[in-house]
Amino acid sequence: MSASSPGSPAVPGHIPPHLVRHVDLWEEISAAGQDAYLRAAALHQETPPIFYVPRLGYLPGAWVPRRAEDLRTILQDPETFSSVGLAPFAKLLGDNWKLIPLEVDPPEHAKYRALLNPLFTPKRVDAQEEKIRARASELLDRFIPLGKCDFNEDFANEFPTLIFLNMMGWPADQAPRFVRWTQTIVKGMDMQQVTDAVREVRNYLRERIAERRAVPGDDFTGYLLASEVDGRPLSDDELLGTCFLVFLAGLDTVASSLGWIFMHLARHPEQQTELRANPEGISDALEELLRAYSIVNMQRTVTREVRLGAVTMLPGDTVLISTELGNLDPEKYGCPAKVDFHRPDAHVPHMAFSYGPHRCVGSHLARRELRIAMELWLQRVPPFRMADHPVQARASGVFGLEGLHLEWSPVMGATV
Ligand code: HEM
Repeated sequence: MSASSPGSPAVPGHIPPHLVRHVDLWEEISAAGQDAYLRAAALHQETPPIFYVPRLGYLPGAWVPRRAEDLRTILQDPETFSSVGLAPFAKLLGDNWKLIPLEVDPPEHAKYRALLNPLFTPKRVDAQEEKIRARASELLDRFIPLGKCDFNEDFANEFPTLIFLNMMGWPADQAPRFVRWTQTIVKGMDMQQVTDAVREVRNYLRERIAERRAVPGDDFTGYLLASEVDGRPLSDDELLGTCFLVFLAGLDTVASSLGWIFMHLARHPEQQTELRANPEGISDALEELLRAYSIVNMQRTVTREVRLGAVTMLPGDTVLISTELGNLDPEKYGCPAKVDFHRPDAHVPHMAFSYGPHRCVGSHLARRELRIAMELWLQRVPPFRMADHPVQARASGVFGLEGLHLEWSPVMGATV
């Protein structure tokens, strides 16, 4: 049995009608543009703690828990809420590799995760600090004297891509290709173009893996080739799935976060002034910005009947894990939509990098990239503001911004 309203896909019979919200959540949030997060915060006043949307972007229909505590419960119970089979990429090509370790549930997950952990420790990130700083600075050199930039084009897309290529041991001149691939895969609406881009990335990664197999080397792929799970080397599909995930997880996430953070700073000159005068405050400010502008939406599939709050979920149901909603929960944070670098509840952990076994392995690297970007911009770029250019919010798996242009009074000779 199923219920539906005109223009909406069918709703499974076990979903109580009063919990169904016949609005595409992401369209609703995107429509608010620059104020997308105010719209997301308002949902806490307008919806039950767990509701159901029959259509959500590319997803057929999903439960949407909005309370941080419910989201934590789900993320910490991977037996009931599974990550297996969530990503469509291999299926688009008719392949059957998976994103590792993202699409692997515990206890198997831990074996693969243990391979990645040592590559992303704070110490490993420290070792990259100077390179990260240099890459950001080189990008700034190109446009500071112009007094303006197209933020995504000129900075946000390329910066994490250059760090990624350096980490993988691949040439920096591949950056434009990787930016194009990321943009197509993350934002593409044309399935043929998305499929073509996924195929090109897969082929590129397979070539790099084959090269390293032939000539061992001391880079990311070389490390994975020398690694073992269950006393055996990783298969080509496992190597591909791991490299594909790091590519997918590490580029657009940082670029999108940068967009929201810098739009916020551009709209709040008084907070720029504060951080310019007190750069030691940047780390705390970044945590608050990560909370207030959290970007990642994950999914889980229910594996067994489960009761959560007032709701019964059945095997096969999809659950949306919106880190935005979790981080804007008024039960957790006072005035959650307000970006307050000195909030009294700053000690309450946020979930921008998730909880549980799949918690972001790249969080130290991501934080370092974001902090360095903030430090260098505030040090080198005069007070910046938004240019007169339309900005669009993109609410989907990763929330981002299109068309962010910034401007400032050009100061020739601004240096590091
Ligand atoms: C601001 C930037 C970033 C944000 C907000 C972010 C957020 C997240 C979140 C929420 C998850 C959990 C996914 C889930 O539970 O299903 C995750 C997982 C992951 N992230 Fe990040 N991430 C960022 C940057 C990075 C970077 C720079 C890398 C590496 C270069 C990276 C690598 C990964 C990997 C490999 C996983 C899967 C971990 C696992 O399944 O055990 N992330 N990230």
